[in-house]
This record gives sequence, C-alpha cells and structure tokens, in this order.
Amino acid sequence: MTAIINGKPQAIEAGERLIDLINRSGAEIPQVCYHPQLGPIQTCDTCMVEVDGKLVRACGTLAADGMNVVTSSARADAAQREAFDRILGNHLLYCTVCDNNNGNCTVHNTTKLLNVEHQEIPFKAKPYEVDMSNPFYRYDPDQCILCGRCVEACQNLQVNETLSIDWEDAHPRVLWDAGAPIGESSCVSCGHCVTVCPCNALMEKSMLGEAGFFTALPKPALDDMIDVVKGVEPEAGYGPILKLSEMEAAMRESHIKRTKTVCTYCGVGCSFDIWTKDRHILKVEPAEGPANGVSTCIKGKFGWDYVNSPDRLTKPLIREGDTFREASWDEALTLVARRFAEIKAKTGPDSLAFISSSKCTNEESYLMQKLARAVIGTNNMDNCSRYCQAPATTGLFRTVGYGGDSGSISDIEKAGLVLIIGSNTAESHPVLATRVKRSHKLHGQKLIVSDLRENEMARRADVFLHPRPGTDLFWLSAVTRYILDNGLANQAFIDKWVNGAQEYIKSLEPFTLEMASERTGLPVETLKRVGHMIVEADGVCILWAMGVTQHIMGSDTSTAISNLLLATGNYMRPGTGAYPLRGHNNVQGASDHGAMPNYFPGYQKVDDPAIRAKFEKAWNVSLPPKPGLDNHLMIDAIHDGRLKAMYVFGEEMSLVDSNANYVADALSKLDFFVMQEIFFTETCRFADVIFPASPSLEKEGTFTSTERRIQRLYRVLEPLGESRPDWEIIQDIANRLGAGWKYKHPSEIYAEIAPLTPLMAGVTYERLEGYKTLQWPVAEDGSDQPLLYTEQFQFPDGKATFFPLEWTEPSNQQDAEFDLHLNNGRLLEHFHEGNMTYRTEGIREKTPCTFVEVSQELATDRGIQTGSWVQLTSPYGKVRAQAVITTRVHGKELYMPMNSVNEPVNRLTSSYTDKVTHTPAYKETSVKLKVLEEIGENPLPRTNSRFGHPTPQKGVEVERKWKRKDYREPGDQLVQIQTR
Ligand code: SF4
Ligand code: SF4
Ligand code: SF4
Ligand code: FES
Repeated sequence: MTAIINGKPQAIEAGERLIDLINRSGAEIPQVCYHPQLGPIQTCDTCMVEVDGKLVRACGTLAADGMNVVTSSARADAAQREAFDRILGNHLLYCTVCDNNNGNCTVHNTTKLLNVEHQEIPFKAKPYEVDMSNPFYRYDPDQCILCGRCVEACQNLQVNETLSIDWEDAHPRVLWDAGAPIGESSCVSCGHCVTVCPCNALMEKSMLGEAGFFTALPKPALDDMIDVVKGVEPEAGYGPILKLSEMEAAMRESHIKRTKTVCTYCGVGCSFDIWTKDRHILKVEPAEGPANGVSTCIKGKFGWDYVNSPDRLTKPLIREGDTFREASWDEALTLVARRFAEIKAKTGPDSLAFISSSKCTNEESYLMQKLARAVIGTNNMDNCSRYCQAPATTGLFRTVGYGGDSGSISDIEKAGLVLIIGSNTAESHPVLATRVKRSHKLHGQKLIVSDLRENEMARRADVFLHPRPGTDLFWLSAVTRYILDNGLANQAFIDKWVNGAQEYIKSLEPFTLEMASERTGLPVETLKRVGHMIVEADGVCILWAMGVTQHIMGSDTSTAISNLLLATGNYMRPGTGAYPLRGHNNVQGASDHGAMPNYFPGYQKVDDPAIRAKFEKAWNVSLPPKPGLDNHLMIDAIHDGRLKAMYVFGEEMSLVDSNANYVADALSKLDFFVMQEIFFTETCRFADVIFPASPSLEKEGTFTSTERRIQRLYRVLEPLGESRPDWEIIQDIANRLGAGWKYKHPSEIYAEIAPLTPLMAGVTYERLEGYKTLQWPVAEDGSDQPLLYTEQFQFPDGKATFFPLEWTEPSNQQDAEFDLHLNNGRLLEHFHEGNMTYRTEGIREKTPCTFVEVSQELATDRGIQTGSWVQLTSPYGKVRAQAVITTRVHGKELYMPMNSVNEPVNRLTSSYTDKVTHTPAYKETSVKLKVLEEIGENPLPRTNSRFGHPTPQKGVEVERKWKRKDYREPGDQLVQIQTR
C-alpha cells in the first residue's frame, strides 16, 4: 500500500497511522497531543493535514492506499496555526526562566516549528492555584494546555484512572479523583503523567529551580522577568525571545548530564535516563526502554534519594568489641584476606560460604562465584533467588527446559487470557501490571486471579479465586484433569510436543473437581468455568510469584502451572507461556551467572566433569566437584559448627530470610563475617568487617530482568566517599588471596563469561550499547530469543515433558493456639524491608511503616480497630504492629507487608522449606494475635493513595470537548476519516 505525501509516494506499513507515516516520510507537522505510546487522543488539532482535499487530524486517521496527503497547504497550515494559537492561549511562554526549557519541550518546539511570532488569542490565566500537594510533582493549571496526554497515560497506560478533564466546565483543567488535591487522591505517584506532559504544567519537584540558570530566582523576580519578556513580544515577536531561550537551553547542557540506567528495584527491568546536576538527581526520564517505554512506578521514578543519603557507608569498618571503627581499605582488605586464608587452612574451603546480591550486576555475581570456586575452592555459593524464585525455575526445568519467562512482557499483553496466581502484580511488578490492566481494559483480555487477598488485580479480574492457603496445586491439577477428561485439551499439541502424557494423566487421578473443591474451598462450577475460559482463550499466559513459590510445594505448584499450559497448548507462540515474575532487579541474572551452589554460569552443572574441566582450564585451577550449600543449608551449617566464615554482599539476610531470629542467631555464631553494603543494615550488626559498596547509579555493568532481558547500566554518579563498586572489592579480595585478576571494566568480565557460557555466547557490551538489549539464550552471532520454544523445547528430543505430581499438606497449619493464617508480601511504595525506599522522604510520608491487614469479620470478633496495636506470635517469634481493617483480606487471614526493619514479619516465619529447592515456606505461617491496649492513628496516612477514589473513564474523552458550545474545528471541512 502506498500513499502520496506532499507529492512523493510513501509505502504504508500494516495498520499505520497517518501521523506515523508522515513522520517517517520526513515531512514535519505539529503534533502536540500525539505520543506514539499513547496513541491518538485528538485533543490539540495541531496535526491537521489535507487528505484528498479534506482536512483531517493526521493522528486520528489510518493511512490508506492511494491517499493523497498534503501537509502544508494553505488550509492545513492555517488550521495548524489556529489550533496552536488556542494552545498558547492556555500557556504562558516564559521559556528562558522555565525548568522545562531543555530542548525537549513540545510547546516550545512547536512554537519554533510554526515560526509563531505573535499569538492571536492572548494568554488567560485559569482560576486555580498551583497544586503542590504531591511530594514528588506539581501541577500548574495556568501552564496546562489541556492536551490530555496525562489523562490518557493515567487512564489507559498506567490504568490507575485518577485523572480526567472536566470538559464541560467553564475553565477545564486536569482533575485528580474528580477534584481532590493531588496529595489526597488515588494517585500512586507512578509519574506517567509527568513524563508525558508536553510542557511544564506537570513537573518533577526535583527539577524546580534546579534545571535552569535563572529558574531559582525568587518568584517576584521571576514574574518581573516574565513581564519584561511579554512586554517585548508585541514589538519583537517570539523569534528573538525563543532564540534567547534556546541559548539558555544550550548552556544547560554543560551542567545537566543524562545517563541511561536500569531500575534497581523489581525485576520488570524498566530503563530510563537519569538527569543529574552534580550529585543532584533532577529527574528520571523514561522514553524508550524496551520493557517500559514511558512507564515507571513510584520507586523507579522517584525512589532514588537513598543514593545521596547521609547514612551511606563511605569507609570500611572493622569490628572492635561491640562497636566498629573506620579503617583504611588496605587494612580491611588485608584483614579479610588473612582471615579467609586462615579459616580455609584450618577447617577447609567448605567452612566458608558466599552470598551474592540479586541487586548487583551479572558481572559481580560472576566474580563472587569465581572467588568462591576458583580462589577459595568451595561451591557454598548462593543468592536470594533461593528465597523466592528457585521453585519456579525448577517447575520450568522439569517441564519445558529453560528456567526463565517463556516470552516478553509484550507477549503477556497479547494473550487472550492472563491467569495470575499468588502475585500482587500491581504492587510488586507495577509496570508489568499496567500492561495487563491496559489489555484488560481496552483490548478484551480476560483476567483470572487466584490469591488470598483481594488485591488490585483481583478486583479487576473477571474471575477472582480465593483458595485456602497453600492449595493452588490442587485446583490447578484438578482443572487440568477436567480439561483432559473432557476432551478439551490441545491433543494435537500434546501428541506432537509433550512426553509423559500417560504417566501424568494417571498421576492426576486424585485431583477431581470435587476433591479440589473440598481442599480449596472453591466451588466446582467456578473451577469448570476457569477450565473453559482457559481452553477458549486465544493464548493464555500464567503469571506467578511468591504466593506460589514460598510454600513447601512451591516447585510442585510451579510445575502444575506448566503442566496446565502444556495440556492446553499454551507454549510456542506469542501471547502464551509461563511467566514467573522475578522479584529483584537482577535475581534472574544472579542465578544465570552462577551464584548458585550447583551451577556454574548458564546453569552448567558443577558435578559434570566435562563442564568442570572447561572452567578449570579457563581459570587455571582445580575446582570442587560436589554442589555446595544453599543459603538455607548455610544457616543450619553455622548452627552445627561446620560453617565458620561468610562473605555476603547486598543482601539483608538477617531480615529477609525466613525464621529471622534463627538466622540472626546463626550469624552471631560465625567466626568471621564480611558484609559489603551501601548502608549499615541489620545484617551488618553481625559483621566483623564491612566494606562500603556503591549502588547501581555509581557503577557499570548489566542486569537481567524477568523477561531474560540483559541490559547495560552506565555510571550516573561517581562513588560516594570511599565507597567502591562491588566487583572492584571482590577483585581486590581475590587478588590478596593470590588470584591475579586484572579486570579494569565490567565489559572485560563479560568478555570472559560469554565464551564459557553457551546461554550467553553472543553477549557483548557493544551489542548492549545504550538501550540495545538481548534476551537469552544469545547465540554467538548475537541473535537472541525474545520468545522461547518457537522451534522446540529445551530437551534433547526437543519435546516438553509432563511432570507427575502428588499433593503434600502445607506446613504450619492453624491449630487451637496459632489460629490465624499470616500472609506477607510487598507494598507498592517500598522495596522489601525498605532499606532503600525509606530513605526517600516522599515515600516515607505516604507509607511510614508496616501494619497488619485484618478482615472486618476478625476485627469485629476481636474488637480490633484500625490503629489498634496488636502483637502477633508464632512458634518462632513475635512482632508488634498496628492494624488496618480492610476488605482486602478475609476471615482469619492476616497480611503483613514486609517493609519493616524494626518489626520484620520474618521473625514469625518458619524454617520449613520447599521440598526441592529449600525456598522457605514464608507463606505458610500461623500466628496468634493479642490486642494490645494502645490505639494510635491509622498507620496509613490520609495521603496514601489507597484512600483515593479513582474515576475510571474511557480515556481523555475528547468527544466531550468537541461537544462544547465554544469549540469549533480549526480550518474548514474537518472530517473524521477513521479513528481508533
Ligand atoms: S497515578 Fe498519579 S502519577 Fe500516575 S499517571 Fe495517574 S496521576 Fe500521574
Ligand atoms: S498537565 Fe496534562 S493536559 Fe495539561 S499540558 Fe500536561 S499533559 Fe497536557
Ligand atoms: S516496575 Fe520495577 S523496574 Fe519498573 S520502575 Fe517500578 S520498581 Fe523499577
Ligand atoms: S496531534 Fe493533537 S490532534 Fe493530532
């Protein structure tokens, strides 16, 4: 298909919008409200062009074969100018003293593109105050051009549905929850609206008075300057004024640095530019990250204050009795090397253990396991995937072969049905959740959620399943059996691609719908409905997280998920597959790069002689042949006296491991304990030496996200004080033990990893330059696999395998004494225990502490009010917290977010683990509750978004603007050819 653009033929891509075709052709037209990631919202009318002699909005028109398009005819030009003139009536042009004058302001650039010299419609202020009530951003109604990009982003991309425009009002403006102050609305501070705003109406507070040379002037002085500029305009026109502001914008380039990085919080893998002025973080600017585009959540957009926190460790510390003293690097490194060597000589290499950080880079995990294996001589090496993800990996290893998500986040968007099990996706993986919410809202995707809590995704779901705790395996297997028994399975797929059907079907015998109903409490009819929805859907993706994995059946339930997908043929094509949602930014990468007791990088077995020989040759050492201790077994080994020394970096082990009192007790028994951290954490209290490390913004390297996407991060800031990147510290320790490593940059480490690791064979820093990414497996020629299993499964015969399962009773079931079930997990605003997020003031303001969610029934029964202090006791410990009465939990089920250093929920969790992987059964915890006498305020302040009242609507709803009496289409004869 071809259209003619300004006399030249231009080939059309399938489904292409006219505006994209024009942009591709190189013709320049104004397009103030258009943003490719939001789609056409048609509010600004500046993109008018002539198509076959009629005026149309280019953004709202699909390109069609034979179209004759003229972008700058007199009529189109007049319409574009008229439309833009109306915009200037809503916006005071004071670019030189505006913090948004950074070369990327759409309003400024359009003024220039159209050579606007004078505006016909004078600027008129709106009768509203600037809203400063959100801790992170502000809204200035006077500068708001009513383009509605923010509304579209909030309604249909983030799908928080907070924003709207009151098109019928005499003075329309953007509204939060139909008119609440921002700080008291349902706004979750994800920042989408701020990111897409084409001018300075919505701005990060961290930019204000900081970005420009003149923008920090006191308001009266600023107003005077604006008056001067406005006074000059009638005489001189905008031309010279814009030139001046452009000079000022160019000068800013000398002090504003823009550096690409990858988010350091969850596993979604959002990437963005960070704008800095010296050490001041001006803003996070997401634009073209392959996982997130313009999207972020509160943590990625605004949660970076920890980097400059005065609490940062900046010097090595050495224990002296009960306290620590500052030491030189030389002294601390020498001490660590000496003690490691002594302990190795005295009690053997297996009396030392190493734990790598899932927050740190792939290169750092690689070096840590190399230090353990090649320098010390032990496989006692692990990372925190043991706490959450290992069971999911096992389930996938058993059935399909690769331990990673089957496809990309974009595949999840395409699914006809998404099934979420045991994941509070909207809070734990916020940006990934937005894609599901969007597909569900706009594109008819069906959503089933199985969870104990009625979380946001559950509330949006077509079917919400609330099974009894720990029983997902039962209903999943029963639904699979129902599908197989009733001829609803994808038999052709099974015949061609799946081994082991007979044995598997036999293993399903106990899993009848009736038994499932009895065990789970879910009605038979509901389970049947779920089965039919699954087989009728055009593509099913199953997403799961710690609600599945942190059970003694974590591996088995993960396997049951994959079995169900195989039975229904939901692998091998876009919009299908298994998606264990990785929790930490680099928990996937830490395991991929060998921070495990049984695998070298790329899941190559340590007990395979050929593999070991390969690494021995490369590293020029002999290597231990038996798998080492995982982090659960390490704790037992310390208690038993077998493990004497540990080296842990970037892991708050004493709070995040289960049965925290038992873990802390173990750590206090170590002969020698080395920590490497950015703050003095709870775990540091047990250390003998603490090295000050640099966070992600202060180093280079790569992270691997949940979708197996390897991405580079660049150094945004220099390391603070004497802190150093983890890989440098690990190398220094290794070298003091005689290793002779000579890495000068993480790229050199990756150059060693790739040839040793078939999974990453083609990974190079050049191929990851800037925003380029690779999704493993990466062949030597650099080709990667965004969608796995397109040609075969990862087994020798290319087929997948059904894996038979049995039912195991959950541990720690309620009894007469410990009569309540305690669930736990993340909160949107905080990451884990909150070591990083509590250091952002705005986050602390919105979510100052942890709490316990209590159902209305239980509250009535026990006389608990919101704000009541309660004590929870399990067989393993006690915590105190304030209650929040909510409909999110039911009956005798409690929920406690994990964001607390003082009262961590893991004092209550047990040492029971998943049978296969030793992942703690965090989600199998029974407690008793005592109501204490104290009653305080609601632990969630009124400003928390959970108190808001969202206003869902279709989007910007521009049709309401078009119906206004004072609205007239610019130009003449505007026609709507075909809108979305
Ligand atoms: S939730 Fe808040 S920050 Fe996010 S897009 Fe909506 S209004 Fe903006
Ligand atoms: S605040 Fe919203 S409507 Fe106003 S200019 Fe910014 S994006 Fe457009
Ligand atoms: S969704 Fe995850 S990766 Fe993205 S900004 Fe939020 S915390 Fe960071
Ligand atoms: S770009 Fe705004 S109406 Fe088309």
